[in-house]
Amino acid sequence: MSENNQNLSAWQRFLKKITKANELGKEEEIMTDHNYDGIRELDNVLPPWWVAGFYITIAISVFYYIMVFMGNYNQEKEYQDEVAQAKIEHEAWLKQDMKNHPEKYTEAKAYTDKAHLDKGKELFMAKGCIACHGIDGGGGIGPNLTDNVSILGCDFKSTFNTISKGGRPGKGMVAWESSISKEDRQLLASYVLSLRGTTPANPKAAEGDKKCD
Ligand code: HEC
Repeated sequence: MSENNQNLSAWQRFLKKITKANELGKEEEIMTDHNYDGIRELDNVLPPWWVAGFYITIAISVFYYIMVFMGNYNQEKEYQDEVAQAKIEHEAWLKQDMKNHPEKYTEAKAYTDKAHLDKGKELFMAKGCIACHGIDGGGGIGPNLTDNVSILGCDFKSTFNTISKGGRPGKGMVAWESSISKEDRQLLASYVLSLRGTTPANPKAAEGDKKCD
């Protein structure tokens, strides 16, 4: 074996080292006396690369056993820990967001007293609602706001939502969220509700299938 070593490249020597393969033509040296119907057996050594892999798996199994069965590491716990961590982070974020945008977290509230309704009326004139809904809410391009039906909802929440987010696509009712403050949209929605049941000069024919009391 060794007499040929000088002629081998470094790579070939390396391969030889990690496989310890028996040289061809020298099978007799490692032939066992097992013989099964002419099938015989060579007593090859285990290739060192394979043995190394085998020992590595044993080492890993020890590490794994200690971690999982003696320590407190497992996938379930890892998952629970991550969920708990995410919860903490989300709560911190929520706290900060509530601080930065308090208006997002408070329910819009309806006003019914005259002072606030008067303010709502002023806004209704000033913000251009009258261009489409008429000076007395009787309607025009937009629907009549005084009759007892509605397209998008009669209650305060729906009305506030329509003013904030707009009407159905392409109908012309703008989403005022970005240009009118939340407080003012509350005043507008309150005022719009107070128009119901009033008698405008030129009422537009009723639109919508939502019955309002
Ligand atoms: C450019 C025209 C236009 C302007 C300006 C406008 N609206 Fe409208 N509005 C409409 C139209 C059109 C609809 C119907 C939307 C639909 O059919 O989805 C509507 C619907 C509504 C509704 C729901 C009516 C229903 O029957 O459900 C409310 C409430 C409303 N507008 C309030 C306002 C307020 C308050 C303003 C002013 C801040 C305003 N609108 C400005 C055109 C307008």
